[in-house]
Amino acid sequence: MKKFFPLILVVTLILALGTTALAQVRIGIAMPTQSLQRWNQDGANMKQRFEAAGYVVDLQYANNNVALQISQIENMILNGADILVIAAIDGASLGTVLEVAKDEGIPVIAYDRLIMETDAVSYYATFDNYMVGTIQGKYLVEALDLENRTDPVNIEIVAGSPDDNNARYFYQGAIDQIQPYIDAGKVIVPSGQIAFEQVATLEWSSERAQARMDNLIAAYYAGGRPLHAVLCSNDSTALGVTNSLLGAGFTKEEFPLITGQDCDIANTKNIIAGYQAMSVFKDTRTLAERVVKMVEAIVRGEEPEVNDTETYFNGVFTVPTYLCEPVFADINNYEELLIESGYYTREQLEN
Ligand code: BGC
Repeated sequence: MKKFFPLILVVTLILALGTTALAQVRIGIAMPTQSLQRWNQDGANMKQRFEAAGYVVDLQYANNNVALQISQIENMILNGADILVIAAIDGASLGTVLEVAKDEGIPVIAYDRLIMETDAVSYYATFDNYMVGTIQGKYLVEALDLENRTDPVNIEIVAGSPDDNNARYFYQGAIDQIQPYIDAGKVIVPSGQIAFEQVATLEWSSERAQARMDNLIAAYYAGGRPLHAVLCSNDSTALGVTNSLLGAGFTKEEFPLITGQDCDIANTKNIIAGYQAMSVFKDTRTLAERVVKMVEAIVRGEEPEVNDTETYFNGVFTVPTYLCEPVFADINNYEELLIESGYYTREQLEN
């Protein structure tokens, strides 16, 4: 026992020193907004994991206000952040503030959304954005039986925010599945609004999506023309579209298939109620864990693991990326994906 005592002491000391050293590593986490459920989860998950590992966390939400996000990042740098994790509001607006980070040798991880037009971003961690769109597009192809049906279907398209680099990937992934059927005359978009610029929704706003859907219904569907599907890029836009359709008196029987992404609680409830057909589950716990791993590698002076070095060109260079896998979710598997995995409680999904 005597012999081991000094050894135990040394080990304890090393552990204590290690913890102190870690406790001094400050992580600045800049999230876009609290108005959307997912970012609250992203922020909370990361904060919890980083703090459990002994890091000091400065977590800020910017209310979808670009200037506010820039000043939050400035403050993080002033307050001694060692590493920044940023989900940008406008991916192309952070160049100047990130120059300061770069000058101070602060590594920057782009979280979920790529940061554009700068070499000051070190790594990118996200879900495979193109695959999200592919999952949505494939779903519509199959659910509408586009391969076999002879009568054409009417669909409308509601995409994401033009300042979010992800939005075009989601859109493109889905359109690549559906375009052949538009070309073949099997899919008709009665509004004629197909190009990304025509269907984008600033700030991914539910209200804007709802207002646009109100206009589309009034202009193209008032005479009883059937609407078979609305390809929505995410759940916040899907929510606006569903509200619009309900407001216009669409019944469950004639309700179009609405796609989404994120498995937000309100949308999962709509899936259960039959007012949304599917969503894409992007488990924010997985992404948070990935980013914690990246940070830990950086702190150890190692290169973080990435699995994509070709896709995400940000206008200056191709950012080394780790892509997590998005998962199809609908009425048949939501319990397993969301409840059994502990993501939500059953009560949270009850009305
Ligand atoms: C995210 C989506 C989210 C959307 C709106 C995108 O960048 O990848 O998960 O629905 O922003 O916040």
